[in-house]
Amino acid sequence: MNRTTNKFQWTRKHLIGIKDLSVEEITYILDTAKGFENLSTRSVKKVPALRGKVLVNMFFEDSTRTRNSFTLAASRLSADVVEFSKTSSSVSKGETLLDTARNLEAMGIDIVVIRHSAGGAPVLLSRSINACVINAGDGYNEHPTQALLDAYTIREKRGSLEGLKIGIVGDIAHSRVARSDIWAFTKLGAEVILVGPPTLMPAQVNKLPVRVSHSLDAVIEELDVINMLRIQFERLGGNPFPSVREYSHFFGLTVERMEKAKKDIIVMHPGPINRGLEIESEVADGNNSVILDQVANGLKVRMAVMFLVSQAAANQDTEIKTTNPS
Ligand code: CP
Repeated sequence: MNRTTNKFQWTRKHLIGIKDLSVEEITYILDTAKGFENLSTRSVKKVPALRGKVLVNMFFEDSTRTRNSFTLAASRLSADVVEFSKTSSSVSKGETLLDTARNLEAMGIDIVVIRHSAGGAPVLLSRSINACVINAGDGYNEHPTQALLDAYTIREKRGSLEGLKIGIVGDIAHSRVARSDIWAFTKLGAEVILVGPPTLMPAQVNKLPVRVSHSLDAVIEELDVINMLRIQFERLGGNPFPSVREYSHFFGLTVERMEKAKKDIIVMHPGPINRGLEIESEVADGNNSVILDQVANGLKVRMAVMFLVSQAAANQDTEIKTTNPS
């Protein structure tokens, strides 16, 4: 298993994406998350790590898992949480993202968790406000905490990602999960195989560190892990395949197709699931599925990320005060 040394020090006060993280940084987050493992089973599920800190959940797109996971993770670290949504805020009256964030910052927030339909919104925010910024999914770009919880789950089941073959199947073109997973999995030593119809592959897929297959049947036997993605109908411009039934026939993870897979293949899905489309219910709820483990691990990973960025911000404040002691 990849482990970081004691000498490593986390210095980032923002988590924008996985692409820019080093192997040591990814491993350090996973190791820190492991340290939070026992918290969920204690009678008092709280530690005072972020007591007195305020986190705002700025979600401009819908979410079940990510939003509630950040809220619960912040609560477990004793932070106060402000819930913000596009529809019930002054964004609906025309206020910009930056004005909204600056107004919230004026109320004394320490961490902003942002989900936005525009790729690049989190990095823009990180350059404009003093609070820590954590990307909870930006357009098709990245969803770093999802990739971290996916990597954590695989590491939990197999010890390491080194040498594993991981298939990511479906709508890669519109998937921020796929992009973050590709960087996380390959940096940790896995081979990634993207599987789907040519119309659902991203532009310039040949520049990514992956293999591509347009046939799930051609590769399923070699996979150690299979990560099924939802078709993002809300983001599709036209019809990328003739019919949903045909898509399911060629790319759905069915009980029949699972017969060809390794007996211990790990079945993953970031959710939300479209049962019967990209995955049959029997497979989603079957013995190989770790879908709910992924959700449970999301809490640990998000606690780790909030804790680390908050510590980095505190260290940077101390350095500034030491340099300018007035
Ligand atoms: N995996 C994921 O991002 O799920 P939500 O959209 O429910 O947050």
